[in-house]
Amino acid sequence: MLRGLRWIVCGAAIAAGSLVAAQDDFDRPPISYSTAPTHDRVARLKEQLEQGKASLERDEEHGYLRALLAALDIDASSQTLVFSQTSLQLRKISPHKPRALYYNDDAYVGWVQDGDVLEVSAVDDQQGVVFYTLDQREDTPQLVRDRGHCLSCHATSRTKSVPGLLVRSVYADAAGRPWFGAGTFTNDHSSPFKDRWGGWYLTGNHGEMRHMANVISTDRRRPENIDRERGANRSDLSDLFDVRPYLTPKSDIVALMVLTHQTQMHNWITRAGFETRKAIHSDEVMNKALERPDDYRSESAKRRISSVAEDLVSYLLFSEEFKLTSPVEGDAAFRERFARDAARDSKGRSLRDFDLQTRLFKYPCSYMIHSSSFKSLPAPVMEEVLSRLSAALGDPAATPHLSDADRTALREILAETVEGFPPS
Ligand code: HEC
Repeated sequence: MLRGLRWIVCGAAIAAGSLVAAQDDFDRPPISYSTAPTHDRVARLKEQLEQGKASLERDEEHGYLRALLAALDIDASSQTLVFSQTSLQLRKISPHKPRALYYNDDAYVGWVQDGDVLEVSAVDDQQGVVFYTLDQREDTPQLVRDRGHCLSCHATSRTKSVPGLLVRSVYADAAGRPWFGAGTFTNDHSSPFKDRWGGWYLTGNHGEMRHMANVISTDRRRPENIDRERGANRSDLSDLFDVRPYLTPKSDIVALMVLTHQTQMHNWITRAGFETRKAIHSDEVMNKALERPDDYRSESAKRRISSVAEDLVSYLLFSEEFKLTSPVEGDAAFRERFARDAARDSKGRSLRDFDLQTRLFKYPCSYMIHSSSFKSLPAPVMEEVLSRLSAALGDPAATPHLSDADRTALREILAETVEGFPPS
């Protein structure tokens, strides 16, 4: 049975055109993804539930959803809705019954109407994203760590080949089924608006920019022929489906833009950590075999570390960010909550301040630089990332998307809020 299930899920992943990452690669030392203990936010709650130190109330409408969000400190204003059948409980998802996602900086929850389970993920400082389910039918709520089933979609080339997260954009038909032949997109902050959020709902204003959200694709011969006008600048979704079962009637544009940035940010951080640990590990093995000093660092290890540091810095600094051609306006509730824990410099500036005129943030260096997963990066890659970051912010040729004023502001904010950031 289990085997059969796995096969079907793998089939779905292959049909989805994604390249499943070689799981063995991160299941071996030094990563040992499946077996090493984790201390992420959900692992901590799981332990508290098992020790009777926490409990979750179930309600008629949403099962354990509200209680779980509260326990993980996730706000309902982060809600985004996706109606394409692209995820685990696909048969329960449709344009009439979209799946709801909720998130904060390091934890995510997926809920579908009448779903058997809540889908949960959290970021561990060492092990990247870890996946769990919570069975909605059980009287005693139990978080169960997934044993590889989720990775058929959550550890592929779309997640930088590490256990990770993604926002996928597809042309979906009236049932929510993607037209894979028409192409799909993995979205991050560099994606042009026109390729974003197919199969998602979206509320908020975005002027003359057009995207793929809010509409279904009915033209069998040309599925990419969708009515983007109909989906644009919507504040209300209630004529498209029954919004009452959801915690809010919104699928906020700013919440979705942040999710789109943040999902791939996790993947770049995890990849930098994994690659560095693997490079150091293979040096350790070789150093022993060749009787070299323990701290000898090979040229190939240095190159591997340099290469992941370069990618990470580029994404951190929004180097390829899509330039907005109209202002974006979303719901105040999400923006306020997002700013709640902002690390501010002495002038009151924060990496969480929104721009939303020509780009997502006013000071384009990801706020995830303050996350504990970033802070836990191994020392060799951390040193390289910070020195590259500092160099890029002193060099207009390396950061042509930034103005002199942007570079100065970023250097000042980072110097005050990021430990170890080299003074200029
Ligand atoms: C068939 C592929 C597939 C499988 C299997 C799958 N997911 Fe996903 N998941 C996705 C896709 C694609 C998204 C992006 C949103 C969407 O399209 O629904 C996603 C999104 C998520 C999100 C929101 C964060 C993000 O990455 O956008 C969570 C949480 C999540 N999945 C949890 C799980 C868990 C837990 C499991 C296993 C129990 C699982 N998923 C199995 C495809 C899958």
